[in-house]
Amino acid sequence: MSGSPYPLGLRLTGRRVVVVGGGAVATRRVPALLDAGADVLLVAPELTPALRAHVDAGRLRWEPRRFLPDDLDGAWLVQVAVDDRVAAAAVSAAAAERRIFCVRADDRAAATAWTPAVTRHGPVTVAVLGGGDPRRAMSVRDAVRELLAARAGQPAGETTVAGAAAGAAGAAPGRPSVPAPGESGADGAPVGRVALVGAGPGDPELITVRGWRLLTEAEVVVADRLVPGLLLDELRPDVELVDASKIPYGPSRAQEEINRILVDRARAGKVVVRLKGGDPYVFGRGGEELLACAEAGVPVTVVPGVTSAISVPAAARVPVTHRAVAHEFTVVSGHVAPDSPASLVRWESLAGLRGTLVILMGLKNLAAISATLVAHGRPAGTPAAVIQEGTTTAQRAIRSTLGTVAADVEAAGLRPPAIVVVGDVVGALDT
Ligand SMILES: C[S@@+](CC[C@H](N)C(=O)[O-])C[C@H]1O[C@@H](n2cnc3c(N)ncnc32)[C@H](O)[C@@H]1O
Repeated sequence: MSGSPYPLGLRLTGRRVVVVGGGAVATRRVPALLDAGADVLLVAPELTPALRAHVDAGRLRWEPRRFLPDDLDGAWLVQVAVDDRVAAAAVSAAAAERRIFCVRADDRAAATAWTPAVTRHGPVTVAVLGGGDPRRAMSVRDAVRELLAARAGQPAGETTVAGAAAGAAGAAPGRPSVPAPGESGADGAPVGRVALVGAGPGDPELITVRGWRLLTEAEVVVADRLVPGLLLDELRPDVELVDASKIPYGPSRAQEEINRILVDRARAGKVVVRLKGGDPYVFGRGGEELLACAEAGVPVTVVPGVTSAISVPAAARVPVTHRAVAHEFTVVSGHVAPDSPASLVRWESLAGLRGTLVILMGLKNLAAISATLVAHGRPAGTPAAVIQEGTTTAQRAIRSTLGTVAADVEAAGLRPPAIVVVGDVVGALDT
């Protein structure tokens, strides 16, 4: 086929797309079709487990047999994802008869449409055709992706909560009542936005792709003490960096002050990232910040992070669950002593569990915590590990037992931030 391809963006919502074949190619092609809202009919005698999961979830219809020309009746597009050239040619012929575009995985020259290499950045989709050379298309796509990563807008699918009027968390993005960033609010003032971004446990590479992209877009970054310094190093020089750990007053006044900064900057039209260690909702006060923004009518997005509760043990070769060893793990804060009236944790009940206990912020009260657990039935010989500054180059870790862990931490001079893991999973990966 000669001539340059004519690029189009197909709007497939509710439109029938037939996929012929149930193997690896179909597995790769189907998710984007579903994402586009297509009414997918899959024709194949066998399916990969991933495709079967789509069928089981009711996302598409499956005809468990070989292709019949009538399968194309009512279709707008067909994707041929079979190796068998004769079978593929039969689909092509049926498609041509019906004037339906046909993508062929087995033979690009015989296809009437090509699938491009794609990168998506929020509302922006870049599709690259490499003149019939998929590798060329992918390398150009990768270069474009790098460039756009620093500049793209808010991606579709991000959960945005905007203002008390938007109701409970989980409001859909793009609600009519929500001014877009940079637009004016009802009072004519510019409206920015806030993203509560989990920065991960310490290794700068453990932030999510979305979190990192939002960080590159930020005009103001309000950062916690525990966020990886290297991430801040990469900010543009004109970004206003607010070190939340240096805000004076007591803990609750400091939180109020942080909330105020987030709201004020967003109301001034700024794109604000509140960068928090680990995950914003795991002992991170992310909920309070979300509510403060929502009450002020500021659009706010939450980007989950890799929590230290799981990743820090993992960095010390401790899986929080392991087959035939632990069927549960419990994450608990140890910042309040077990005998304090302010404690919300039933340590005596936790002592009765067999699984893994992950204690954050527990070093100060470790002697009391471990004594309480032992007093209420957890064996003193239960393995324990303590990991300081996990996933960073400064990581230190000790192995111990519940009975001796407090003394061992003291002797080793471990200090916060640290995580204590109690349970038989400690040592499960030792060979
Ligand atoms: C206020 S909590 C915040 C937890 C965070 N939101 C998360 O999801 O990981 C801070 C505590 O998390 C734990 N922590 C966070 N990062 C850590 C790391 N890199 N190494 C060890 N402990 C860490 C420590 O127990 C620290 O005192």
